[in-house]
Amino acid sequence: MLRRPRRNRKSPVIRNLIEETQLSVQHLIFPVFIIEGDNQREEVASMPGIYRYSIDLLLEEIAACQELGIHTFAPFPALTDDKKDTLAQEGHNPEGLFPTAIRRIKETFPDVCLMTDIAMDPYSSDGHDGLVHDGEILNDATLEILGKMALVQAEAGADILGPSDMMDGRVGYLRELLDEHGYANVSIMAYTAKYASAFYGPFRDALDSAPKLGDKKTYQMNPANAREALMEAELDYDEGADILMVKPALPYLDIVQSLKECFPVPIAAYQVSGEYAMIKAAAANGWLNGRKTMQESLMSIRRAGADIILTYFAKEYAQELKS
Ligand code: PBG
Repeated sequence: MLRRPRRNRKSPVIRNLIEETQLSVQHLIFPVFIIEGDNQREEVASMPGIYRYSIDLLLEEIAACQELGIHTFAPFPALTDDKKDTLAQEGHNPEGLFPTAIRRIKETFPDVCLMTDIAMDPYSSDGHDGLVHDGEILNDATLEILGKMALVQAEAGADILGPSDMMDGRVGYLRELLDEHGYANVSIMAYTAKYASAFYGPFRDALDSAPKLGDKKTYQMNPANAREALMEAELDYDEGADILMVKPALPYLDIVQSLKECFPVPIAAYQVSGEYAMIKAAAANGWLNGRKTMQESLMSIRRAGADIILTYFAKEYAQELKS
């Protein structure tokens, strides 16, 4: 045999020598959940190890993560029902929980990078990302609401805005609005190929944000479609997105790979709540090795082409690297 591929696997040193893909904590973004109050910490039932924190405790959590080398966070507010309405008005209340949290984090840790979510669902009594009228999700009317949210978040100190709503034209709309208001340096990471996925279940538990009626299929993408992601990416790219994201991650690695090949901007992938829950549940049952499965899934996402990974495993992965 002239070709014996096993020669290149014969020792740990050789295996490391030829390793093609590296994943370090600098590539990770840690999504975190915020609640009202002081000294509050609640575990999300379907996401063991993930908590909703009041702002004071979130600051402590961020400090601990920074010690581990995690410097980028994606906060989401979990609001009580009395703060939700059909117009998602709390989403652009400058004194609301979310902008307050952004300000407090940036005051305490000026070097932390915050990627903040733009969509109506955490604030919407309908549980939709856009404005509902007669059972329909209105596109252009939603843009105006998203714009108000974006300005409040930018003013509070967000570094990167993450429109996750999947309305048409929102990247261009937000870019123009930000520029007009002096926020040319605020970046946009577009949720470009966001699929109508069953893997978001635990996140909707965390925020109590499941749609009250219907589903999100008129705005999020059909899991059967790959070429459509190229069109979404082209639009977001042309509209000025700085980073394109694919979501979920592991079931959509083909999409990550094709965006990486076709677009000269960084590509992010969001390993969503259900992907995390699946690994945690199997590990809790002793059916999978949780640590190794976490590492393999993250490495696979990176190998497919993700420059950045949003993952609920960020802290655990960083702890593993240190231990
Ligand atoms: C909604 C939003 C969702 C997630 C991030 N932003 C859920 C949805 O679209 O219903 C999901 C993240 C996850 O599952 O971890 N704007």
